[in-house]
Amino acid sequence: MELPSSLKPFFLLLFVSCLLNVSTIISQSLKQEDVLFGGKFQALYVIGDSLVDSGNNNYLPTKVKSNFAPYGSDFEGGKPTGRFSNGKTIADYIAIYYGLPLAPAYMGLSEGQKNNISTGINYASASCGVFPATGKQLGECLSMDVQVNYFKETIDKNLKKRFKTKPELSKHLAKSLFMIAIGINDYVFLYNKTIDPNEFADKLLHEYMTQIQVHSTEDFDFCVQRLQRLGARKFFINNLKPLGCYPNTLARNVPSGSCNEGANLLISIFNTKLRKALAHFKENSCMWKQKWFTRFFQRRVHTQAAVPRM
Ligand SMILES: *[C@@H]1O[C@H](CO)[C@@H](O)[C@H](O)[C@H]1NC(C)=O
Ligand SMILES: *[C@@H]1O[C@H](CO)[C@@H](O)[C@H](O)[C@H]1NC(C)=O
Repeated sequence: MELPSSLKPFFLLLFVSCLLNVSTIISQSLKQEDVLFGGKFQALYVIGDSLVDSGNNNYLPTKVKSNFAPYGSDFEGGKPTGRFSNGKTIADYIAIYYGLPLAPAYMGLSEGQKNNISTGINYASASCGVFPATGKQLGECLSMDVQVNYFKETIDKNLKKRFKTKPELSKHLAKSLFMIAIGINDYVFLYNKTIDPNEFADKLLHEYMTQIQVHSTEDFDFCVQRLQRLGARKFFINNLKPLGCYPNTLARNVPSGSCNEGANLLISIFNTKLRKALAHFKENSCMWKQKWFTRFFQRRVHTQAAVPRM
């Protein structure tokens, strides 16, 4: 099944860093692919939905769970973990790529464990989205704003114990990668044909960007941002997947196995707007602009995502 190239999964990468040692990165040759982004991250923090949930919904009263077979059949030990996958998620592959442990589900951690972890945490929650109402028909889940709140708690209650001075903590956060993969469920639960696709995409994007940034004035002030204000500097932002090619759509669509192009078009409207907003965000942050870097990363992640077992 060939998708129009505009709908092929890709990743938008966003680097927001004044602290980054740019010369170090630029001096690295393209051959040293394993040391992209300056080589090392101290941690991977994940905000998202079922694409990257590593078990948070196991701890929530919801029908949306994956803690039973055949989920996890290809995961380490062949056990269901609460990942909505037979194997690892894209967030897991990114952790492996950077030599980090798989980011554990926040909801499953004891206070002692939270205090002891400095390699990243996963806040993602299946069925949830950017709008607080999304997914709640099926039970509890963690919306994007709740996930960001939990990340703030991680900083305030846990990381501050481990990184005792402000410069130490800032350094840790600046050297961590923030992955964001959320938004498809907002379409699944809240969109219907009576709604203007452009208006819906605009509202969703506004809410999405609000979690990354806070506007301090009528105009967007791109230097005062929510995640960024908390200390996040490096973002890995996933666009929305083509909803019209999800397995349940393929199964129901006529002819069977074909994508619903209408649904894909809807999603591509949002993705186009997201890409523009991030480009603007980049320009208005003290950004390092290295285009090859983004392109390379897209390719690399594709390769990894295509490997069924790892
Ligand atoms: C903290 O982490 C270390 C290394 O991973 C481990 O050996 C230790 O048992 C952990 N302590 C607690 C209280 O979880
Ligand atoms: C479509 O969504 C709007 C906004 O949420 C809602 O008011 C309306 O009832 C929905 N229409 C249908 C047919 O579901």
